[in-house]
Amino acid sequence: MIRQSCARTEPAYALGTTMNHRPSHVSLPTFTPTKERPLGVLFVCLGNICRSPLARNIFEHSARTRGVLELLRVDSCGTGGWHIGDPADPRAEAVARRRGLPFRHVARQVRVPEDFREFDLIVGMDHSNVQTLRRLGAPEDRLRLMRWFSEPDRAPTPEVPDPYTGDDRDFDHVYDLLDRACAGMLDALNLRSESASGSERHA
Ligand code: 4NP
Repeated sequence: MIRQSCARTEPAYALGTTMNHRPSHVSLPTFTPTKERPLGVLFVCLGNICRSPLARNIFEHSARTRGVLELLRVDSCGTGGWHIGDPADPRAEAVARRRGLPFRHVARQVRVPEDFREFDLIVGMDHSNVQTLRRLGAPEDRLRLMRWFSEPDRAPTPEVPDPYTGDDRDFDHVYDLLDRACAGMLDALNLRSESASGSERHA
């Protein structure tokens, strides 16, 4: 991905829209993603075996359904390195199966600083993830908290709770939270497939 070609000017929705009230730290990239220069979205949690792999697969599936997956480059990672190379937690795979979600995953740790250059949106699941990313040097203008996309008016933005020490019900709850946030993110990004509409973003 060629970072230098990305025009970053004013935050998207900065002027005269219903999103005008949103603070700049939760604004969206302004460039128009294309197949050649897709929007990079990196979902981040602690272990990269529960929440962020589900977020990544839900987001990709929803984007595919909307016909805009080709405009996105999506990945996930953990701030911790305990599970590098592992598959997802069996309970995450199980909830994906229950919901009929195509699911693939191999865990990895965040790459510093490469991930902070290569991804346009770096989306933490909880406040601690975002704090860790900030401490590692993630640029503030790319950092987001997942549930802002579904609950932008709540302050502080609620978290996607860590289900690792929980049970199947916790994973179902996390799935529902992620599903809503992914839908909100895709709504907010307002992507249009090149084949359907050219490369213009519509307001
Ligand atoms: P995740 O959950 O951050 O949603 O992947 C966790 C998975 C593993 C650990 C902690 C959280 N762990 O400590 O190994």
